[in-house]
Amino acid sequence: ATVFGLNFENRVGLAAGLDKNGLAVDGFARLGFGHLEIGTVTPEPQSGNQKPRLFRLKRDNAIINRFGFNNDGAKSIERRLRKASFKGILGVNIGKNKATDNISAVDDYLKCMEILGPVADYLVINISSPNTFKLRELSSGRFLSTMLSQILSFRKNLKNRKNEFLPILIKLSPDESDKQLRETVSTCLNAPVDGLILTNTTMTRYPSLTSTHNKEKGGLSGMPLAALSISRLRAVIDHFGCNTPIISVGGIMSDLAAKQRLDMGASLVQIYSGLIYSGPRLVKSILATC
Ligand code: FNR
Repeated sequence: ATVFGLNFENRVGLAAGLDKNGLAVDGFARLGFGHLEIGTVTPEPQSGNQKPRLFRLKRDNAIINRFGFNNDGAKSIERRLRKASFKGILGVNIGKNKATDNISAVDDYLKCMEILGPVADYLVINISSPNTFKLRELSSGRFLSTMLSQILSFRKNLKNRKNEFLPILIKLSPDESDKQLRETVSTCLNAPVDGLILTNTTMTRYPSLTSTHNKEKGGLSGMPLAALSISRLRAVIDHFGCNTPIISVGGIMSDLAAKQRLDMGASLVQIYSGLIYSGPRLVKSILATC
């Protein structure tokens, strides 16, 4: 499949956050993924939030995390990615350091673009993690349109790891109202970005959650996120159509769930929690079904 100008072997990818540092690219590739998304990577290394910061909600097939972008920093990860032999599509998801104010956030994204663009097939602007103070405020119109125009004009000087056009995607939160989401997406499409990733984790705490850790702070992923992620995909496709590619992520725990997202009009799907709860064979079972 050709999506935002890149040639994907198949439609299933690894979501950001599982290999934040690009330590296991060739290992994850062997599970059958057509694309892998590394990161979130910030310009400088940072240690993230205090432990504990990762909780399995086993009875709910869910995870809560508040990692806070722990990662080795753009330069180390760039050197590591240069050594990977994976021939599929390698995405790198980028963010801002905790110490950087929202006012100067764009500089962090530009630094990451410059360092990581040449070792990535595509880049993702992450403005949707709930675990970096006020990061989600970057999706408000005020910041977003200025930031995206700076990002896209900077991209003119860059090429991707195949020395070709470097697509820029944006990863969005599921926690905006339909109206807010339409505004955010319309800013993104006007910029114009090359694709959307829907969605990151949710701050919602469903009363149906029964596991011990259901009150922990952080972003919730896995089965309970599925309905919300689907409703965001539906809202965007109903309003904007399918001209701009969408990667659907959030609560895809089975082959049929993946098929449903693709049937709805998503161009690609990604999984994280599904890999934890359904196991690594999930990738090939999705490939067999879709
Ligand atoms: C994440 N996710 C994530 N996303 C992102 O853009 N940057 C990141 O650093 C992380 N880190 C991260 C850590 C952990 C422990 C989890 C569980 C998730 C979000 C992830 O990519 C995905 O959007 C959500 O988890 C929803 O998909 P699943 O897990 O329901 O398949």
